This record gives sequence, structure tokens and C-alpha cells, in this order.
Amino acid sequence: MTKKIKPLKDLFKHQFKIGAAINPEILAHDEELILTHFNSVTVENDMKFGEIHPEENRYAFERADIIADFVRENHLTMRGHTFVWHNQTSDWLFKDQSGKNVDEATLLDRLEQHMRIMNQRYGDIIYVWDVVNEAIEDKKGSYLRESLWKEILGDNYIEKIFRLAEKVNPSVDLFYNDYNETKPEKRDKIYKLVKNLKDNGVKIDGIGMQAHWSMDKPSIDEIKEALDMYASLDVKIHITEMDVRLCNEGEKPKFATEPEPEMLKKQALRYQAFFKLFQQYEAIESVTLWGVSDYYSWLDDFIGKGNKTWPLLFNEEGRPKEAYWYIVDSFSE
Ligand code: G3I
Repeated sequence: MTKKIKPLKDLFKHQFKIGAAINPEILAHDEELILTHFNSVTVENDMKFGEIHPEENRYAFERADIIADFVRENHLTMRGHTFVWHNQTSDWLFKDQSGKNVDEATLLDRLEQHMRIMNQRYGDIIYVWDVVNEAIEDKKGSYLRESLWKEILGDNYIEKIFRLAEKVNPSVDLFYNDYNETKPEKRDKIYKLVKNLKDNGVKIDGIGMQAHWSMDKPSIDEIKEALDMYASLDVKIHITEMDVRLCNEGEKPKFATEPEPEMLKKQALRYQAFFKLFQQYEAIESVTLWGVSDYYSWLDDFIGKGNKTWPLLFNEEGRPKEAYWYIVDSFSE
């Protein structure tokens, strides 16, 4: 007997939104899966500064528009990703005509114009923005990552940027988003950053926990500790970029063409435990997977070096994996 597919968005409709990061190619390949299971979408790359605003007087809206139109037609919602990042950002933004760094006022003005244009074009569908992405340094002993943003705007640049984001659009939720978010050292720095912002009266609505997780790490206890700490700040929490690669942290999958059944089972148990934990937190308002099916994941290049990493809930043909069934079975009445 074939089991009946249950839409994930229905399964969790009383708990949180269920999202997927997509691009036009994923949309073409997995449209049916997206429409069946997800009610929120993040644009994987095409709304990042460098992609959508490559030159001062030129925006490249085409790819983002494909996703935005799809969201409108199907009454989905969108997470905006992202305004301020050290990566995938246009060089022109930081430079004057002679190639020197611009001053603070110029950079803030350019960012404000960018935020306004994005808001005009996509404000009808975007309810939350990852305003600042990955600004905390991973290395022990240092707090903020070095970047041109920090160099030009100063050590309190994140506060300035959140204040600007609020000025441009006071009604959208403003989030700080990062990875390694459950590792104690980085977790404590994220906590400190958000606490300082709140103490200074800055509007910050939530923390995005990226959740690029592995078969061995993080532990459920580590995730729980991070969730407890973040929730204690009285902010919303979004799981923003979830995937669970089929290997341990720091390794790559050892099987070239097909995943091993026992690894898929282990992955299913991990996913099930994660979703059980998420359900216990009222603060979690959205859970987004960083992709749709194992047909495509950024991890295949990044970790797999061209080999598959099988990190998602649906296989390359779009069929549900054990991970999907373990989640569905444990939450169905
Ligand atoms: O656009 C160029 C294309 O012109 C060129 O032909 C091709 C050749 O490699 O590269 C294309 O750029 C790639 C880009 O994605 C768009 O596809 C870059 O090489 C590639 O490095 C880039 O990777 C993206 C990565 O962010 C960049 O850091 C991933 O797709 C994307 O999934 C990933 O997403 C990030 C989140 O935004 C933030 N958190 C971490 C997450 C995973 O790294």
C-alpha cells in the first residue's frame, strides 16, 4: 500500500511556516513539490546585493521577479534574503570613482536607496528581512567579522543598519541571521549582539538560525541550549537555511552515486528529532529548508566537491525520503 502524502505546510499549520530556498531552476524542476508542501519561500541568491544590484544604476530583477511572481500567484509568503553581507555584495557599493572607500554617509545613503527600491518592488510579499547576515566572527577571541561594512561604518555598524532598515520599512520584521548558531562560542556572541541591540532600543524582531547541520553535529542538547538562550531575548526565531548533509561535520559523503540506506535512516531520525524540538518552541515561527529536493543543493559543490550530499527531505526524483516520512509519521494524529 502506498502511503498518502501529507503536505508539510498542513502538518505544521498551527506551529510554523514551512519554507524552501529556491531559484528559477529549482522552481522549474520542483514546482509541484513546492506548491504541495511549502507556504514560504526564500530566494537562494537572486536578491543578494551583488546579484540584484550589480552596478550603481543597474538592477537585475529578472530572476528575483520570476520567484516573486510565483509567490504572488500562489499566495505564498517570502523571507527577504539579504541586505548586508560580507559575501556576494557588489564592489561598487563601497568605492568612489577613484577606487577609494566611500565615507559613512555615502554608504548608508546607497544602502537606504537599495532598501527602498527592494521594498517598493517586493514589499507586498516580503514579511521579514535578513537585514544583516553572518556578521559574527567564528574565530575565538574576536567578536565581529572584518568587512568593508565594518571598516566604513565603524564597530557599531549593525545598529546603524538596523535603524536604517526600520526607517525604510517599519512594518517588516527585521532579523539577524547566522550559521554555527548552536556552537557555544558563536551562540554567545550572537546572544550578546542581539541583547546589545535590544538594550540600545533598536528594533530587532528575530534571530535566524541557519541550521546547516550534519549527521553528528550539533547535538539536540546544543540546539536546545541555543534555542533557550535566543528565546530568552524575547525575539522571534526562524530556522532559515536547514539541511542535514549525509556525513559528519568536516567530512564529505563517502559514497559517490547512491546514499547508503542506514545513513538515510540516521538522517531521518535526526530530522525527526529536530522537528520534535522545534515544536516545543512558541518563538519559532518559520522553518525553511535550503532547497527542495536532492536534485540540487549548494552543499553538493561546497562539501561534496561535485558529489551528492543528499541533505533534503525529497530525493532527486522528488519522492519523499525516509526523513520526510519520519517527520510526517511522528506528527500525524
Ligand atoms: O552566478 C555565477 C555564474 O555566473 C557562474 O557561471 C557560476 C560558476 O561557478 O557561479 C555563479 O555564482 C555562484 C552563485 O552561487 C550563484 O549560483 C557562485 O559560484 C556560488 O559560490 C554561489 O553559492 C551560493 C553561496 O550562498 C555563496 O556564498 C549558494 O548558491 C547559496 O546557496 C549560498 O547561500 C548561503 C546563504 O545565502 C547564507 N548562508 C549560507 C548559505 C550557504 O552558503
